[in-house]
Amino acid sequence: MELIEIKNIFEREKVGKEVYFRGWVYRRRIIGNKIFLVVRDANGIVQVVIKDPKLVEKIQPIQIEGSLAVKGIVHEDKRAPGGYEVEAKEIEVFDYGKPFPLRGREEPDTIQKYRHLWIRSRWFSATQKIKHSLLKNLREWYVKDGWFEVFPPILVGNACEETTTLFEVKYFDQKAYLSQSAQLYLEALIFSLGKVFSLTPSFRAEKSRTRRHLHEYWHFEIEAAWYTMEDLMKVTEESLKYAIGKTIEERKDEFEIIKEKTGRNIEELKAIIEKPWRVITYKQAIDILKSKGMNIDHGSDLGADEERVLTLQFDTPVFVIEYPRKLKAFYMFDKDENVVKNFDLLAPEGYGEIVGGSEREWRLDILEKKIKEWNLDKLKVKIGDEEISAYEWYLDLRRFGSVPHSGMGLGVERLLMWVCKLEHIRDALPFPRLREGWLYP
Ligand code: 4AD
Ligand code: MG
Repeated sequence: MELIEIKNIFEREKVGKEVYFRGWVYRRRIIGNKIFLVVRDANGIVQVVIKDPKLVEKIQPIQIEGSLAVKGIVHEDKRAPGGYEVEAKEIEVFDYGKPFPLRGREEPDTIQKYRHLWIRSRWFSATQKIKHSLLKNLREWYVKDGWFEVFPPILVGNACEETTTLFEVKYFDQKAYLSQSAQLYLEALIFSLGKVFSLTPSFRAEKSRTRRHLHEYWHFEIEAAWYTMEDLMKVTEESLKYAIGKTIEERKDEFEIIKEKTGRNIEELKAIIEKPWRVITYKQAIDILKSKGMNIDHGSDLGADEERVLTLQFDTPVFVIEYPRKLKAFYMFDKDENVVKNFDLLAPEGYGEIVGGSEREWRLDILEKKIKEWNLDKLKVKIGDEEISAYEWYLDLRRFGSVPHSGMGLGVERLLMWVCKLEHIRDALPFPRLREGWLYP
């Protein structure tokens, strides 16, 4: 008999027919001399009723998450989830299972210990399917718009962002680092490919523990020759609106499950992607924060608290542009002696930064000065017996046909956190890397 997926049981023409499917026990109840199982697979759940005394005796010891294959007849039943029930005729048990250690109300420590099992929960699975769709749709937008996907290295000899958050690794007899961003390599690729994007892990040895920082996260980055900041903001907004809009259409069932858990309503998201997104300068942002009673001065960075207060003033994501150059990375284009041509895109409802982007400093003399000013000329690499600056190759990009260009990086877990209204970034990925002890599992 043909095996089917559980979601395909719920068809009118299946009523009265025999079906054959496999899965795991999601719930079990014994009522009188019957057993009711709710069985799940990757995409559905169905109620199975067991009445035959021999089968009841056989299935009685099965635990939550026990694995089995069921052959049975489909009946309509208003009380069953989805309105259908399967009356079991034959059951093959693959694993009866030990008593399942998770009930759904555990403390974070217990969840961490059993995280490899916890990730089977329906709402977490729903978040991962939404993530899958968001990335598929983002890729789709960029591919349709003529961008090439590229594959930069993770083991690198330079720092893209602050040297204080570098993870150092031994690379034979040299020091190497885990990549903080693919950006510098994407910049090298635009001269031949024009517009490129990549999806890679990025690593940050952040000192602070917060709800929105991971030590390893997935980074979706783009870079394009000839692009100005305005071009960059336009594609960032359009591609995100497309990806979120299409994901809402494709993942209605998953958003229903998420809604029960976090209260995320897709109508809120739809409203946000239908409006033009706001643009304010860093200067205006500080003035708004001061007027809301925040203790912050011009020149200070926006932390999670400031970003939360700021985003609560707007009903769309907001691009905050032109930060003081001292607050930002060395590679950003100096608009004047005070500010750079950059943006941070802050997600609404308190979430804050999900994207950082900028026009790049493409003038050789200014870039050389900034590398010294940021103290990055200290980073050296060996080529044979020669030791050279780890940024020499990056400066070469400004020596051989330099052009204006721009790019951005999107934190995938940050995006998902906002889209699903999650409280903590650890729930946006199966195996988060956080402080102490989070190498398990
Ligand atoms: O703002 P960041 O540091 O910018 C860059 O790395 C640029 N080189 C990107 C580029 O222009 N190609 O990081 C970009 C985004 C942030 O907006 C945030 O969403 C995410 O990466 N991010 C983190 N996500 C989780 N945990 C962390 N510790 C993160 N640090 C940055
Ligand atoms: Mg940033």
